[in-house]
Amino acid sequence: MKTILAGLDRMATKGQLGKGKFFESVVGPNVSNSGTPLARRELLRLLLGGGALGGLRPDLLEATQRVGGISGLAADELNPLVRAPEAVPDGLTLRAAVGEAEIGGGVRAPAWMLNESLPSPLLRVRRGDPFRLTLHNELPDELILHWHGLTPPEHSDGHPRQAVRRGNAYAYDFTVENRAGTYWYHSHTHHKTAKHTALGIGGMLIVEDDEEDALGLPSGEWEIPLLLQDRQVDATGRPNNSWSNMMAAYPDMGTEVFANGTRRPCLECRAGLYRFRILNGSSARIFRLERSDRRPLVLIGNDGGMLERSLTLDAIDIAPAERIDLLLDLSDVRVGEEVVLRSGGFRIPGGIEHLGAGAQGAEMDLLRLRIVARERERQNIPERLRAPVGGPDPAAAVRERTFEMATWVDEETRTMEYHGINGRTFEMDRADLRVPFGQTEIWSFANDNIFAHPIHLHGTHFRVLSRTGGRGAVMPWEIGLKDTVLLYPSETVSVAVRFSAHTGLFPLHCHNLRHADVGMMLNVLVE
Ligand code: C2O
Ligand code: CU
Ligand code: CU
Repeated sequence: MKTILAGLDRMATKGQLGKGKFFESVVGPNVSNSGTPLARRELLRLLLGGGALGGLRPDLLEATQRVGGISGLAADELNPLVRAPEAVPDGLTLRAAVGEAEIGGGVRAPAWMLNESLPSPLLRVRRGDPFRLTLHNELPDELILHWHGLTPPEHSDGHPRQAVRRGNAYAYDFTVENRAGTYWYHSHTHHKTAKHTALGIGGMLIVEDDEEDALGLPSGEWEIPLLLQDRQVDATGRPNNSWSNMMAAYPDMGTEVFANGTRRPCLECRAGLYRFRILNGSSARIFRLERSDRRPLVLIGNDGGMLERSLTLDAIDIAPAERIDLLLDLSDVRVGEEVVLRSGGFRIPGGIEHLGAGAQGAEMDLLRLRIVARERERQNIPERLRAPVGGPDPAAAVRERTFEMATWVDEETRTMEYHGINGRTFEMDRADLRVPFGQTEIWSFANDNIFAHPIHLHGTHFRVLSRTGGRGAVMPWEIGLKDTVLLYPSETVSVAVRFSAHTGLFPLHCHNLRHADVGMMLNVLVE
């Protein structure tokens, strides 16, 4: 018996959930898809009353704890931030295999790695250059890599149906057409992305071009790529990758944040201007990025690359899969002082993820910056950055579509959670909607359940036009071109979208990795 949390009237017909092998293996073949709508309070009762959450008290709902702190740690408990080895994806081979990696302080932990590295290699490529890469899979699972934010043709996009078994290879070959910016690559094996990402598969992908070079932004040691991922750790400080628990109703959020695969990271800096390229590679955790000294952050780019002008903000929210490109001015910090990049506390109105240690919105330290030397030259922050970014114009829209995010809860186990879009869960080869190439459309993503959903689209970027309900406005950092947008409970976000790169089958999905793994994903056929 399944209880439908939201969107009952739009639910799939019986069988749609039961059909997939995944659901059969997890809940048995006789899953009934009938159910009753569930009020928010009732869901809380279900989740709190039994199963994995049985021990939690309702008052914990109010608890926003400080977890994973590094600001209180002694210097010898901190680990130097690691830089990923860099590679140019032109004739590159990435070999995926099981191994062991150092996570800081000499502690080694089991990991799944690409070319024996944790963090995974950082791929650096120029716009207009070829992207030729062969993935060799030596993992026990099927694997495919996706270039998140790039818009290659279908055969090189890393659609889940392209996953290859152990002992096999997949060849990617395309030209990089995207704007200079910070992107991501990660596993897109269906049902396994949360697991693969937790184990270490996936890294940063940076696109550069001449226009950006001309700005003379901080580079070399002044450019810090930062892949942030929350982790649960065991008593020895090693990641506790409990994906066996991945059907638990409560999202799998960690109590500590690892940066570039390092636990309790610390970076020795000079008092100057840095460029931080930040990627939230977590499964479910949202960061509210801020400086411990309350000085502002200067945003220069996001998902779709460099903005037209820089934007000064006190805090910036980064949902899973979102990227922000920042200038961090440490010139006024004295030698010997420290600045902590941290995630400020927040609550999601109407959300459920505020439970216990490692709750969504808990305050967390992300990276400690220790100023060890003075820098003579002062670098200026450019205000104007790039020519207008372009993108789809809502005035040219010819069609509107609506996507409803829905969540079900299994009444028997009370811990089983299902997520879908427009009443459907993902089917590898089914085209869920057909979209004409080159036409502008307005898409509205509606979320009337209690989870936050970062919604991501392959094959193009979009412009965020409006948000109603919840926060009620487009956030300042959601300007420019985006490929992922966060929906809080009760929010509807409208975007202007146009597929102008390639025709083919491209996924639209929630980037909460567990939600995507259980099927919160549709196939868009661009034709
Ligand atoms: Cu980063 Cu289909 O995802
Ligand atoms: Cu993507
Ligand atoms: Cu989701």
